[in-house]
Amino acid sequence: MTLAAPAKLNLRLLVGPRRDDGYHPLRTLMVALDGLADTVTVRPAPERRVRCAGVEGPANLAWRALDALEAQAGRPLPTEVVIDKRIPAQAGLGGGSSDAAATLLGADRVHGLGLGAARLERLAAEVGSDVPFFVRGGVQWAGGRGERLRPARAPRFAALLVKPDAGLSTGAVYAAFDRLAPPPPDDGAEPPPAADGLAGWVRNDLWPAALALAPGLGAPARALAAAGARAVLLCGSGSCLAGLFPARADAEAAAARLRWPGFRAVVEGGGP
Ligand code: C5P
Repeated sequence: MTLAAPAKLNLRLLVGPRRDDGYHPLRTLMVALDGLADTVTVRPAPERRVRCAGVEGPANLAWRALDALEAQAGRPLPTEVVIDKRIPAQAGLGGGSSDAAATLLGADRVHGLGLGAARLERLAAEVGSDVPFFVRGGVQWAGGRGERLRPARAPRFAALLVKPDAGLSTGAVYAAFDRLAPPPPDDGAEPPPAADGLAGWVRNDLWPAALALAPGLGAPARALAAAGARAVLLCGSGSCLAGLFPARADAEAAAARLRWPGFRAVVEGGGP
């Protein structure tokens, strides 16, 4: 069985002080994106195999997803997973987490486990903080370290994504966050009803930390602003940047104006 594993965008990512377990409490609005996805094919096989250019075998989060599923099932579930990557790695777009979620959903189906959404989300939280979101999809507020989900609404928007060649490690960005002054308190604001209100609402508390680690992020951020983005936002812990637009045509016009040589993609998210 083949599943699309979409990228995500955190339209708001508010980060609290480091907890005793090393994780940071979050309040983040996560949106699954249309227009940028990996393809994950899952099938029963004589032995476990995870094939993915760049992140083969046990290093892949999909491997950990199969470990969690086997522990839950209490028996081996030999599975072949083939991942066709489109989402850049170390970008903050959740590609590895999305592949892991698709692996959980696909392996549950092909092995006839019938675990159900709640149990799959609990297993997903063992695999990574962002994985439960991808099991559920859509638009969600995420709390805790990212695993506590509440359905939300976001206006339909378009984004132009650009990514510098250098990626950022999530752990390194959170460690840099700990060395900087804390961000302003949570104002509790809900998403605006229409996309033209997003520019004043989006926020990513990891931006100063990412910029401190990778000052080169300033150049793509300026390129997006010069191309007409209404707001420029770091994606998750980076290093991808998103220029936000009310509609796809605006994002495509900006893509035509954009002076940026590296990875780019026009995506959409939110809406009814
Ligand atoms: O959960 P995941 O393995 O994706 O997290 C990767 C790293 O990101 C963690 O080891 C931790 O350093 C950091 N992190 C964090 N707070 C979160 C999520 C991730 O500090 N809420």
